[in-house]
Amino acid sequence: RLLIVDFGSQVTQLIARRLRELNVYCEIHPFQQVDDTLLDEMAPKAVILSGGPASVIDADSPRPPQKVFELGVPVLGICYGQQVMTQMLGGQVERGDGTAEFGRAWVVPTEERIDLLAGWFMDGSGREQVWMSHGDHVAKLAPGFAVYGTSPGAPYAVTADLERRFYAVQFHPEVHHTPNGRTLYENFVKDAGFTGDWTMGAYREEAIQKIRDQVGDAKVICGLSGGVDSSVAAVLIHEAIGDNLTCVFVDHGLLRQGEADEVITMFRDHYNIPLIHADERDLFLGELTGVSDPEVKRKTIGRLFIDVFQKHANEIEGAAFLAQGTLYPDVIESVSFSGGPSVTIKSHHNVGGLPEKMGLKLVEPLRELFKDEVRALGRELGLPQSFIGRHPFPGPGLAIRCPGEITPEKLDILRKADAVFIDQIRKHGLYDEIWQAFVALLPVRTVGVMGDGRTYDYACAMRAVTSVDGMTADYYPFSHDFLGETATRIINEVRGINRVTYDVTSKPPGTIEWE
Ligand code: XMP
Repeated sequence: RLLIVDFGSQVTQLIARRLRELNVYCEIHPFQQVDDTLLDEMAPKAVILSGGPASVIDADSPRPPQKVFELGVPVLGICYGQQVMTQMLGGQVERGDGTAEFGRAWVVPTEERIDLLAGWFMDGSGREQVWMSHGDHVAKLAPGFAVYGTSPGAPYAVTADLERRFYAVQFHPEVHHTPNGRTLYENFVKDAGFTGDWTMGAYREEAIQKIRDQVGDAKVICGLSGGVDSSVAAVLIHEAIGDNLTCVFVDHGLLRQGEADEVITMFRDHYNIPLIHADERDLFLGELTGVSDPEVKRKTIGRLFIDVFQKHANEIEGAAFLAQGTLYPDVIESVSFSGGPSVTIKSHHNVGGLPEKMGLKLVEPLRELFKDEVRALGRELGLPQSFIGRHPFPGPGLAIRCPGEITPEKLDILRKADAVFIDQIRKHGLYDEIWQAFVALLPVRTVGVMGDGRTYDYACAMRAVTSVDGMTADYYPFSHDFLGETATRIINEVRGINRVTYDVTSKPPGTIEWE
């Protein structure tokens, strides 16, 4: 296995992600916990020193144990990792007053090519795009090291001691903006003798062991939303601790057609996981009567959700942990890579603050994973593909797809129209190409003519977008035939709608949801 020593970079998890993509098993350990004992126990086949916010010039800056360099295995230092390695092995690092470098940069190779960069500089331009984010820089190489790549702001962009197999780069090969970064990792792990035989099945075993170690004999509560993340978390935890897990499924009446039944059947009947079905539809719809402001809707739902969840969770005696399907992007979302401030466009409905309020500790077994990895883990756990491949669904549910005041009648119409739209998308084999698709019921009535009569019914908007992460999105280019056929089906099959539109707004400037 491979050890990643974490010096606190916001993108350390991405290193792990790149390695998992190469089917290499790795463990991230915070630098404070990496000592000689851990190195002996783990006996890593390679070590990566991550980036981090500190400056090696400061006296108390974090360091790995010297032993890392005595193991006889390849070591790769990234950014801060490069600097700490240089410093500890006898080189010099300077404070980059005024020469800090952030963002895109181009590395060019020196005359001698190294295997670490095999596959780089192939596009004819003679250079390779990388992502830099550093203030300090290497000023003098450590003995044994040479330079193998430079950039305008980093004359020591790539350095190495080939004899000892120590490699160091000033840029971040793990981020998306270093397009060929994956190749660099591939070369590194090959050098270390990894064969790429590690799988999601192995991850599952490790995750189960970790949950057992953390939770012991204690009881765990898990809030199930019907989404992929909480479902995978629940099934995984159930494998780890059996019936010491109880799930709480809050039905707020804002779910899609058939969704509540599906969740209950799957968890209770198929997986035999203890499940409390909190049918609180009347409470939520009652409190939402007369509410039309989107933020008030979200806040009302969020507040009620916490109350209700707490009420039902209190029925579970002796619970000490709350399980959450937090993913890695949730962990980094608040601190963007550029470090820029982020503004609240919409307040996201979540259960933040709940663990403290209830005096529960958190279990977050998916914290290191990205969405597609969660899906792979779900498949590994035997969750049906139809469930795993599902589009994301927002916590406040249909409430934010029904602009204006919500009524049971409107929700009923919306559910039916949404089900027709999704059915059409599935029938045409388009579901997996689309990030998210749904119908929004508009708070306007329009005049139409059906048969011999005049109608005065609701209009709706179909929305379907492609996206990688929900942060930006584009509308899906359905054929006109598809749009026409679907509009006809909705009007014929759903009483209460007599006009169908298709939303062709991208994000930005639009958002995916209508509220
Ligand atoms: P927007 O509408 O902001 O949505 O472009 C981006 C993604 O986030 C989902 N979304 C939410 N998810 N609670 C959630 O759990 C919320 O309050 C919420 N609002 C939006 C939305 O469905 C899309 O995938």
